[in-house]
Amino acid sequence: MIFDTHAHYDDEQFDTDREDLLREIFSANIDKIVNVGADMETSRASVALANAHPEIYAAVGVHPSDIACLNEEAYDELRRLAAEERVVAIGEIGLDYYWDKEPEVQSAQRDAFKRQLELAREVKLPIIIHSREAAKDTMDILTAEPHVDNPGIIHCYSYSVEQAREYVKMGYYIGVGGVITFKNAKTLRKVVEEVPLERIVLETDCPYLAPEPNRGKRNYSLYLKFVAEKIAEIKEISVEKVEKMTYQNALTVYGLQKGE
Ligand code: NI
Repeated sequence: MIFDTHAHYDDEQFDTDREDLLREIFSANIDKIVNVGADMETSRASVALANAHPEIYAAVGVHPSDIACLNEEAYDELRRLAAEERVVAIGEIGLDYYWDKEPEVQSAQRDAFKRQLELAREVKLPIIIHSREAAKDTMDILTAEPHVDNPGIIHCYSYSVEQAREYVKMGYYIGVGGVITFKNAKTLRKVVEEVPLERIVLETDCPYLAPEPNRGKRNYSLYLKFVAEKIAEIKEISVEKVEKMTYQNALTVYGLQKGE
């Protein structure tokens, strides 16, 4: 059984066949999915998807590249959405200096990130971090946070082995998806080698980042088998062990029970 800890099934790329696809996924070996918001609209859509499907849970939050939508009204709505029964995390939130290079925009990203971290603390939910080319500022902000036992997931992890060790020490899980199957993912392969399996979760980030041999195509949860196989190969363990442990990790980080 596989737990897809990060998906975007609300995306318009799924508009033509969403329900058929979900039926296919859940009748195969995918047991649970967390659908993750990136702005207000997709946060609402994530909650709606979770309410319509017992296997889907939601995360609500505003992605660093979408913070223009954040005003007081939006923060109030996020707080309301976060209180919904099937919401299990705040995300995706964080910093993205790859797309936004202007210092004022980056500073606004940090403010929005901190404000949403505050919200996560208030509602006692774990966070899903999106961080790209912002390793130092992300770490600085997160280390300044008061310690919690289950802080969340560093999604689509793309930094060094040293930082991964640091995040694991802080209690985070490392999100691994299709990128691990790419030829140029040398550092990520080292990260997967180093980080204990007890700290890794599987994620598609679909419709993006499909693993080899489907790189470039529309991604979906059934392709996680290629990610699990790659992790098993790197760690020299069985695919079953990878699926079982990462499934358990996902339940733990999102505070869910097996049959729930
Ligand atoms: Ni995402």
